[in-house]
Amino acid sequence: MRRPSRRLAAITVASLTTVTLAVSTQTASAGPTATLADPDISVTNTKAHLDQLQSIADANGGNRYTGKPGYKASVDWVKGKLDAAGYTTTVQQFSTSAGTSYNLIAEWPHGDANHVVMAGAHLDSVSRGPGINDNGSGSAGILETALAYAASGETPKNRVRFGFWGAEELGLVGSKYYVNNLPAADRDKVEVYLNFDMIASPNPGYFVYDDNPAGDSARDDLTTYFDGKSIPWEYIDVQGRSDHAAFRSLGIPTAGTFTGAEETKTSAQAKKWGGEAGAAFDPCYHSACDTNENLDLTALDRNIDAIGHMVWTYGAKDYGSDPEPPTGANLLKNPGFESGAVDWTGTSGPITKDSGRPAHSGTWKAWLGGNGRTSSENVSQSVTIPATATAPKLSYWIRSDTNETGSTVYDTLKVQVVSGTSTTTLATHSNVGTSSTYAQKTLDLSAYKGKTITLKLTASEDSSLQTSFVVDDTSVTVG
Ligand code: PHE
Ligand code: ZN
Ligand code: ZN
Ligand code: CA
Repeated sequence: MRRPSRRLAAITVASLTTVTLAVSTQTASAGPTATLADPDISVTNTKAHLDQLQSIADANGGNRYTGKPGYKASVDWVKGKLDAAGYTTTVQQFSTSAGTSYNLIAEWPHGDANHVVMAGAHLDSVSRGPGINDNGSGSAGILETALAYAASGETPKNRVRFGFWGAEELGLVGSKYYVNNLPAADRDKVEVYLNFDMIASPNPGYFVYDDNPAGDSARDDLTTYFDGKSIPWEYIDVQGRSDHAAFRSLGIPTAGTFTGAEETKTSAQAKKWGGEAGAAFDPCYHSACDTNENLDLTALDRNIDAIGHMVWTYGAKDYGSDPEPPTGANLLKNPGFESGAVDWTGTSGPITKDSGRPAHSGTWKAWLGGNGRTSSENVSQSVTIPATATAPKLSYWIRSDTNETGSTVYDTLKVQVVSGTSTTTLATHSNVGTSSTYAQKTLDLSAYKGKTITLKLTASEDSSLQTSFVVDDTSVTVG
């Protein structure tokens, strides 16, 4: 879907990276799609995954908590299963107050990458127990659905991606990290995010998230599914208490199911669903007793079949053939430098929040030059200009100041395009004509349609009298 991109401040500042990632715009062929929208996801297999997570906790001090070996062992085990099934997996490392954690992302490498359908669950437990209902259940459920999808022979129309989040129990840390580090152009491709956190509570309710108007149609697909199975359900406003919150904050449609945590089941709910009135949906919530005996397998079975229904349905959904990336989307990553030096390469130092010069927006910018001695500094980023771009442009805001006087050029900032072995200078700023207010500069990139290029900004100063070039809020658009 089309949605205005929004820049978020990332929560960590990574060191200068030398990896450049190109924006790719390939479109897979959309062949005929046979859709069985009601797969029966195996509860036997899912329970076996939960037993495996229990064993992992048992072998690692009784938990799968962030920073403890049981968490990493959980990631490694899930990754092994998905790799063997043909998924493309990525482990995304990040740090937390309790130690290093990881998100595991698994993508089925078929279908149109411009339309991504995601399901996610947090894989970490609290420190007090093995975390089998919370949230082995959601993790095992999406794992088994992913394995069944791979084995089904479905020809997906869309790109199906699963996220296993780390450090949810520390405050949704992993899912926020994922979202904050997803380039704007990629965020725009996520059509829906479905969250599963606690789906086998021992005294279960059948709750459907109702906390994101953008996700109302996915929510309705879930309630219609439950209606079709004669399973009574209730809406719940989960108050941003799980990993869909980060996706919701980007305007992405979200939905999910939940069987209840520490809250008490009412007598009306016990009439409707069975179980014990006046008791918690999960009396072992966040406790040592959240083991593989703390599960209602009927609730698990019903919820995993709902996951299967949603993944199959959304994997086959027709989102149309919007040309992607949409007009106006910024193909640059970390374009306003607010994540620090991530996504840019070059000499260390220019990307800064030093208050000696103002940012155009936020606090970070690329401050090139300003040394007052013979020196050269640069920042660069690679980007693929789609062949279908109509009027691709580079634009950026720049302000400059100098201690030089007169009309001789001593210090320069060159804005260049490196394409293959050739380097072309698109603009040169210098100590002559500096302006200590920000102005926007826009440059034509139409010579580079269909090419992966590196944009490079290089400041060169002579031996004395500083000139500072401060660049912020860059963009590459397709026109
Ligand atoms: N995210 C909560 C936890 O892990 C549980 C929860 C899930 C609460 C879904 C509300 C809705 O502790
Ligand atoms: Zn949880
Ligand atoms: Zn929890
Ligand atoms: Ca900035």
